[in-house]
Amino acid sequence: MRSFFHRNFLCIGHRGSPSTAPENTLRGFEQAIGDGADAIELDVQLVAGALVVIHDEELDRTTSGSGRVDAVSLDLLRGLDAGDGERVPLLEEVLELVAGRVGVNVELKGPGTAGPTVDLLRARAEAAESILLSAFDHRELAMARNAAPEYPRAALFGRLDRDPITAATALDAVALNVHRRTAGAALVQAARDAGMATLVYTVNDPKEALQLRRMGVAGVFTDCPGAMLRALAVES
Ligand code: G3P
Ligand code: CA
Repeated sequence: MRSFFHRNFLCIGHRGSPSTAPENTLRGFEQAIGDGADAIELDVQLVAGALVVIHDEELDRTTSGSGRVDAVSLDLLRGLDAGDGERVPLLEEVLELVAGRVGVNVELKGPGTAGPTVDLLRARAEAAESILLSAFDHRELAMARNAAPEYPRAALFGRLDRDPITAATALDAVALNVHRRTAGAALVQAARDAGMATLVYTVNDPKEALQLRRMGVAGVFTDCPGAMLRALAVES
């Protein structure tokens, strides 16, 4: 079992490895792991009581279906093509596939996902140190913290429209997950002073990743973990 923060600078497969395989699919996650990603990131939503791994609120961009994700039955959703014949996976299927080989960042994308997610993690006895829960909706993270404080949390931000350190500290978060346009040395240092790591999304340019690494960032979410790791290995 690999701890999420197992080395100084993490290359995290953002939705798997979408530059080479359909996003948020078992094939994509296996590709990221095979390419050497330190961890994978995925998006969960609740559909008919099941935790499914899909990013958008609409089916249209990533599947053969159309309309809202939460308006279809689980059977219909699971019958769709999520790219190259892949299905929309259940969170449980992804955890089964990963089997502790790499860390897993579960982004709680949909409302009501915190409770079922931590229930599943506990039922599967997933090692807490290999999991990172994140959400833009910090109420989901507060629910996760209250229900299962052992699973580490990252406060996820789009725009920094509130004090991120205060918000993350209130959640007992171990990390701030911030957009690449908002990541800066002062923020990284402030997070570090508060005992938190900073992870940055979505970084596909190795030069930018190197700058962030020098800044003290703990890792990047990337659409191309294989290419990123090869480029960083040359620079190291
Ligand atoms: O968790 C980092 C990143 O995945 C957040 O943005 O839109 O790609 O889910 P998004
Ligand atoms: Ca995400």
